[in-house]
Amino acid sequence: MTTVTVIGSVNLDVVANAARLPAPGETITGAELHRFPGGKGANQALAARRLGANVSLVARVGDDASANEALTLLRGGGVDLDQCLAVPGAATGTALIAVAPGGENQIVVAPGANRELRARDIPTPDSDALICQLEVPSDVIADVARRYDGFFCVNLAPAMEVDVAILQRADLIVVNETEAAWYGPTLAACHGLVATTRGSGVATLEHDGKTVAEARPPEVAAVDATGAGDTFTAALTVALVEGQRPAQALRFACAAASLATTRMGAQPSLPKHSEVDGNA
Ligand code: RIB
Repeated sequence: MTTVTVIGSVNLDVVANAARLPAPGETITGAELHRFPGGKGANQALAARRLGANVSLVARVGDDASANEALTLLRGGGVDLDQCLAVPGAATGTALIAVAPGGENQIVVAPGANRELRARDIPTPDSDALICQLEVPSDVIADVARRYDGFFCVNLAPAMEVDVAILQRADLIVVNETEAAWYGPTLAACHGLVATTRGSGVATLEHDGKTVAEARPPEVAAVDATGAGDTFTAALTVALVEGQRPAQALRFACAAASLATTRMGAQPSLPKHSEVDGNA
């Protein structure tokens, strides 16, 4: 079985389903409130697990009631949480999310304990793949990436300046179109594959600035896009590490991500391998 280590964030997502997304300075009422386990790291860990990998998550949560709530589906799903530790006095990361009909969202994150992850506390992973994102300190990602010698995927979300060593070391970089625009030509200088998602539009996989695969996600009735990018990241990594060719792996990742938009919440919506095969 493919083994995956995810180093990343755990959040509790507080979600308001609203009639539309608010403009800056605007108040919208009449929303329905939900709470879901989330965080890009946790979502990617559970997504990889549901797709059949053996997964361990390296993360930090607070010593508060939200921690248990945020970890429930990871525990139930069989993700190894031995290195998911509580930080005394810290609050669990929280994401405030507004979702409009059709699934478009706006997210603001209060990272809390996610900021407390330190490189010195993280053993070098011995898994087939390592997946990271940028909701934990990026110097931690750079340090572990230097030590690790397996397949390294970094999802450059949310967009921010990172050590160039991360970009040069990555076997796979995943961005959405907003992040791709933010990083600009820097991405073309990366040595690995660069995957760009475009919502329901065509996703691409590039190498050395040349497109090596394209795939259009299957059409679905989307209700919540939260976690779709995380599903894509995990699915593409698992598929490539399992030996799928780039075009096939990209189709698989698009099929998985589109399914994740058909249900509410980040982690409740993550699909199983059998569902993705049926949607590809
Ligand atoms: O990628 C989706 C995730 O981003 C949400 O679950 C939220 O926690 C934010 O981290």
